[in-house]
Order: sequence, then structure tokens, then C-alpha cells
Amino acid sequence: PRQAVIIDTDPGVDDAIAILLALAYPGFEVIGLTTTAGNVPRSRATRNALALLDHVGRNDVPVYAGAARPIQGKFAYARHVHSPAGLTRRLPNPVTLPSNVGAVRFLAQSLLAEPNDVTVIALGPLTNLARLLKRNSRALQSAKRIVIMGGAVDFPGNATTHSEFNFFSDPTAARLVIESGIPVTLVDLAACRQVYLTRADARSLSSPNPYGKLAAELVSGWFNRDCSREKFWMYDPLAVVAAIEARALDTHRLTLAVDDAGTTNDGNKWGRCTVVSGGNSNVLVAQPDGVDARLALQTITHLLDWSR
Ligand code: BDR
Ligand code: CA
Repeated sequence: PRQAVIIDTDPGVDDAIAILLALAYPGFEVIGLTTTAGNVPRSRATRNALALLDHVGRNDVPVYAGAARPIQGKFAYARHVHSPAGLTRRLPNPVTLPSNVGAVRFLAQSLLAEPNDVTVIALGPLTNLARLLKRNSRALQSAKRIVIMGGAVDFPGNATTHSEFNFFSDPTAARLVIESGIPVTLVDLAACRQVYLTRADARSLSSPNPYGKLAAELVSGWFNRDCSREKFWMYDPLAVVAAIEARALDTHRLTLAVDDAGTTNDGNKWGRCTVVSGGNSNVLVAQPDGVDARLALQTITHLLDWSR
């Protein structure tokens, strides 16, 4: 039987590639995408999710709209990175609509209906997961596995000196999820920075299948937006790889804390993720030097049927 998967996402170029990867993997049954604001506002994230599913002929996968605002603070978006539309390839407006069930309700229903069966892969700010936790912590606990791309554990951030974008975007949500004691696998910024494509790699990518083709177009579109860009980091795709090919990452068990003190999100400690001693070591953190970048890229290349 295939592994049931829900992807919580804010597409976003690397989110889109991660989604395409999950769709291309025969071992997964993607039972839904839940959206959150993050890279782009929620309406845009939802539209992009639907548009990309339509484009690859997969509008059988339902999309559930989630958070428009973080639990605390204000979303800053990352359109300078992902383009104003969020995706670096123009896609026709989707013919499908989002479900009229909200993201948190869908997560609760599917996780409770099949305890220990569904894998959740979270690729954006953790607002939807934190709301689920507040509403029904048993539901999130019922996930078979939770894999999160986020945080910069004792590592320089990309949103601020200390913080990674997803944790920075909703640090309270990150704190609630990470400090909940619920087991999660965290694929953080340092780990993700091990796996990338160069401009030259991107130039030669082609694929006979719609997933790989769209993914290649998104990567080259991303490079074309800015001639100073040298590396396309596989942030969100690496979280999907973690759920597919465990040998590509070594993890170690840590107790983490996330900083959400303060009332504005302009402090550079907002969203900072640190290792603390004692407590519930519920987080399996991917170790940067334990990432097998070759195997990770091979897995991606193989599933997207990329020839290089
Ligand atoms: C994360 O931030 C977003 O811009 C990416 O989609 C990824 O989820 C990397 O810090
Ligand atoms: Ca993302």
C-alpha cells in the first residue's frame, strides 16, 4: 500500500518542486495539500497549489486553504526570492477550486480517521499545524510521521542573522509544534544548504514527464530572474527526500527551543531555534554533515526523470 501524505505548503518555487517530487514518487498517495501564507499570501499560495496540480493533470488531489495570518506577528512574504507570483513560470488560472473544508479541519479529520497512518510534510510557516495542536493535540499526535522544513539550529538564518524564514514567519507556531513533545523530523536550513543545483546544472535539465518538466522550468525561471544567483537550494524538496529515502540524511535527537518573545517580528532573535538540555528530545534533526547530497540529488533527479 502507498503511504498517505499531506503536504502543508506555501508555494513558492522550492515548495512546488517538493510537491512535484511527492506526486512523482510511486510510494506516496498525496491525499491533500493544505496551504498557508508564507512566501506569498494565502490566496496566492492556494491558487499556485491548484494551478500546478492542474498543469500536471493531478487535480484529483484536493487543496485545503489554511492560515492567512500567523498566530503572532505579521507575515512578511518572500516574493523577492520566489517572484511576485510565487512561481517562476506562468501557469494558467486553475479550473479547480479549493475545498470548502479548511486546512485545519481536513488535517484533524484525516489524522484522526486513520491513526498512525498519515505522514505530514510541512514546508511553510507552521501556523496550520499549531492551530491543529491547539484545537486537538491528539490529532497531530496521530500522524504516522511529521517532517518539517524549517529552523536554523545553531546556524545563521536566512530571514535574520539567527532565524530561518519558516520559523521567523510564525515563531509562536514553530515554538508550539517543536516544544509540544510530539516526535518530528526537522530538516533545517543547515542541512538543506548541502543540496543544490548550480546555474549550469539548471541549464541542462530536461525531462520527458510533466512533473520533471515543470520542475526544470521553475528552476531555470528562478535563475533567470537574477543573474547573480548561483545556487538553487533544495530546501523543501529535501524534506520530501527525508520522507522517501531515509539513507540520504543522518539525524540526531535533540531538545529544541524556539524564541518568540517580543511583540514584533523585527527582532533578529524572533524565530531563533536553539538546542537546550533536558526536556523531551522529540526532535530528530538532520545533521548537515550527515546529509548525503549525492544520494539526495540522485533521488530528486531520478523521480523527476531529469537528464543532466
Ligand atoms: C524556506 O523558506 C521558504 O522561502 C522556502 O520555501 C522554504 O520553505 C527556506 O528557509
Ligand atoms: Ca516553503
